[in-house]
Amino acid sequence: MTDATRTCTDAPHTYWDTRHRERDDLASGGHIGLDRPGNEIFYAIRLGQLLTLIGDLSSPASPLFVLDAGCGKGHFARSLARCGHHVDAFDASEAAVTHARAEGGGPRYAVAGLDEWRSPWLYDVVLCVDVLFHVLNDAQWAAGLRNLASLVRITGRLIVTDEHTDEAVPRGDYILHRPISAYRGELEPLGLSHTHFRPYGFRENRVGFHVFTRTR
Ligand SMILES: C[S@@+](CC[C@H](N)C(=O)[O-])C[C@H]1O[C@@H](n2cnc3c(N)ncnc32)[C@H](O)[C@@H]1O
Repeated sequence: MTDATRTCTDAPHTYWDTRHRERDDLASGGHIGLDRPGNEIFYAIRLGQLLTLIGDLSSPASPLFVLDAGCGKGHFARSLARCGHHVDAFDASEAAVTHARAEGGGPRYAVAGLDEWRSPWLYDVVLCVDVLFHVLNDAQWAAGLRNLASLVRITGRLIVTDEHTDEAVPRGDYILHRPISAYRGELEPLGLSHTHFRPYGFRENRVGFHVFTRTR
C-alpha cells in the first residue's frame, strides 16, 4: 500500500496529511474521485450555497466573525475573507495549514483538532465542511461537535455538512454519515436548534449544509 492509497480508518491524521501533500489544492479537500474541472464546479456550487446561507451583507467595516473548522487548504476560508468577513480557520493537518498560510488572503490559520480549538471570542458563523462524516469515532465526533457549538454566539449559526438521513450510513472505510437525530441529540441540549438543511445539489452527492442556530 502506498501513502496515497492509505485509508484514514487507523491513522486519520496521516491519511489527511498525505492526501494534502500529494493532491492538488482542490482534490485534497474536495472530491478525490473528480477531475480538476469537476472539483472547480463542486467548490463553486458549494460556495454559492454557503454565501446564500450566510447572507450577502458584509464589508470590511462590519465583518462577520467566521470560523472555518477543518479548513483543509483554506478554499472556503479565503473566499469568505474576500467577501469581507473576518475568518479564523484551523485544520488537524499541518500540510494543509502550511499550504493555506502560503496562499495568504486574510484568514488566520492554526493547526488543531475539532475538539481542541479555543478562542477568546465567539463567532457569528462556525463552519465545518465535509469533516465530521470523516470522523469515524463517535466519542471524537461528539467532542468535536460540542466544542464547535461552544464557539457560536447567541443567534449565531453552526453550519455543518452531512447527508439528511434518519439512520447511520457508512460509505467505504472513511465516511460515516450520521442521522440528523445524532446531531440534534448533541446540539439541542447546548441551545442550538436545527433551522435549515440545504442540499449541495451537485450531481448525485446527497450531502448538504445543516444549519443550527443558537437560541439560548
Ligand atoms: C474533505 S477535507 C475538507 C476540507 C475543507 N473543509 C474543504 O471543504 O475544502 C476534510 C478535512 O478535515 C480535516 N480533519 C479531519 N479530521 C479532523 C479533526 N478531527 N480535526 C480537525 N480537522 C480534521 C482533514 O485534515 C481535512 O483537511
